[in-house]
Amino acid sequence: MKSLHKHSHEEMVDSLTNEESLKEYKESADGLKIHWLPGILGTLLVTLGNLVFGEKPSYGKFKAVEVIARIPYQSWEVASYMFLTMFYSNEKKAIELIHTSHFGRAAQDNETMHVIVISQLARKYDQDSFFRHTFIPLAFSFFYFVASFVLYIINPKYSFELNYLFESHAFDQYSRFVSENESDLKSKAVMIEFLEHYGRFPKSEYELFVSIRNDELIHRNASAHEVEKYNKTKI
Ligand SMILES: [Fe+2]
Ligand SMILES: [Fe+2]
Repeated sequence: MKSLHKHSHEEMVDSLTNEESLKEYKESADGLKIHWLPGILGTLLVTLGNLVFGEKPSYGKFKAVEVIARIPYQSWEVASYMFLTMFYSNEKKAIELIHTSHFGRAAQDNETMHVIVISQLARKYDQDSFFRHTFIPLAFSFFYFVASFVLYIINPKYSFELNYLFESHAFDQYSRFVSENESDLKSKAVMIEFLEHYGRFPKSEYELFVSIRNDELIHRNASAHEVEKYNKTKI
């Protein structure tokens, strides 16, 4: 499972546990200008999520967030492969599309780890009802796949902007969760086999949630970076 790309991601996650580095890295991609279309969809998604799962972060809400979070990366992978069928003879475009597909795949692996680990925790703490925590996220995911895919076809940067909004929300929720529950989370050990398989070794739930918070900020900033690239090249 180890790859060069993954290795550098893990180093980045570690470096962001430092508050100063986190602040600086966050500010480097704050305030991205968002087109009204992804803006409306992002607001709708976050508002509906808050309505169903509450505005306060919880294990159950995180499970829903993580079921949904993998979707845009999956849609970009599908869409970029589809475009490669049409644009393979344009070398510059092909390189861009392959880059998007790699980014999508790496982030999907990361989000998959989140959903596996957090669904274990949601079950452990009994925040795992069928309708609210399994069925509704699945229904959201369907809507989100279509939205992300169609936006990518209209203009890839709209789709990256929507993801920027979603990842910002995820980052804010995890930040709030770790700061509001610091001592409680520090007292809870994490015993989840998948983490070992993945190559991450948190000693407590606090370390786990800080690392996931950092993942989300990396995803947010990477999405902003994609938007900037499209602004420059206008593919
Ligand atoms: Fe996530
Ligand atoms: Fe994420």
